[in-house]
Amino acid sequence: MASRDPVRRVCLAYSGGLDTSVILRWLIEEYDCEVVAYCADVGQEEELEGLPEKALASGAVECIVRDVRDEFVSDYVYPAIQAGAIYEGVYLLGTALARPVIAKHHVAVARETGCDAVSHGATGKGNDQIRFELAFRALGPELQVIAPWREWDLRSRTDCMAYAEKHDIPVSATVKKPYSIDRNLMHCSFEGGILEDPWRAPEEAMFLLSQSPEAAPDVPAELVIAFENGRATSIDGESLSPVALLTKLNKLAGTHGVGRVDMVENRFVGLKSRGVYETPGGTVLFVAHRAIESITMDREVMHERDRLIPRYAELVYNGFWFSPEMDLLRATVEASQRNVSGEVRVQLYKGGVTVSGRRSPHSLYSEQMVTFEEDGGAYDQGDAGGFIRLQGLRLGGR
Ligand code: ARG
Repeated sequence: MASRDPVRRVCLAYSGGLDTSVILRWLIEEYDCEVVAYCADVGQEEELEGLPEKALASGAVECIVRDVRDEFVSDYVYPAIQAGAIYEGVYLLGTALARPVIAKHHVAVARETGCDAVSHGATGKGNDQIRFELAFRALGPELQVIAPWREWDLRSRTDCMAYAEKHDIPVSATVKKPYSIDRNLMHCSFEGGILEDPWRAPEEAMFLLSQSPEAAPDVPAELVIAFENGRATSIDGESLSPVALLTKLNKLAGTHGVGRVDMVENRFVGLKSRGVYETPGGTVLFVAHRAIESITMDREVMHERDRLIPRYAELVYNGFWFSPEMDLLRATVEASQRNVSGEVRVQLYKGGVTVSGRRSPHSLYSEQMVTFEEDGGAYDQGDAGGFIRLQGLRLGGR
């Protein structure tokens, strides 16, 4: 341990679970430092009550819980929806989007409480360690980073349990968790356990935010979502804050079995991993947003933005939220959303979300131009002949 840089005070991202409870004590033992416990509320709905008491009982000098839900949805989820961000064609990035906001406040809390280091409980195999630490680097480069999972010799949950017992660390649940779950206002993810066999189907009992499409109501739900500049602002005429809107949509869409994804994805570290996601409200927003864009966005603007989607998603996934290239993409996406306002009608039914109408005061759609009926001379079909002749000039070899 002689090679470790000395630290006085460490700010630890703490959830109250087994891993971070063990890490808390381990930091004190190994680094002979003080630990400030920090927990961000991103809508994980875990027991936050009693968390400070638990942290103090485990040896923390202080525990700070930050409600970052508004900021998470408003500044991370909504921009990603505006971007149409989707990773490898299916993943709406629920975990990846929460990491930067958690890290941002982690740095702030560390500074406010006079810490010279930050620590987290992400393992050495995943994306989360990268997302946290790239954000630390961007926002708090003076802070030393301690990643116990890459450092200590505890190898398993059993090792952690033994450590907890040996050090009298209060851990509530001793039952083995069947999955690694990450939940927030946008989604719930499941990895590990039986899911490690990519052929094996998940058990229905695993899901937390959605009913199965089979169990969903036989009658579809219909709703109207309004957007202003690409940001959802109301449901069925009721104005709602981003958090309230997403919460409501999660419930509705979850009831109808919308937003389940089962995929094998490419982690930034180079591993392939199987993940199952529930993103009920986010899926509805993703679909509805594309529909309002379809009548309000210029074709070329849309296609430029669409070209950015894989890159935007990759940057979010790989943990580069706070980077110059991401600033550029965010500004570009924001500019693309100038006229993306209006209403979309969607139906939720048995796991599906279907658009059944869209309208906007900024609509670029012209019924008069496109009609199969008499258009009163709005569009001269004869023009199309020359248009095609010129397009085809260099084709056909003559
Ligand atoms: N594979 C997903 C991602 O990288 C979800 C990660 C979930 N994190 C967790 N600690 N269980 O975004």
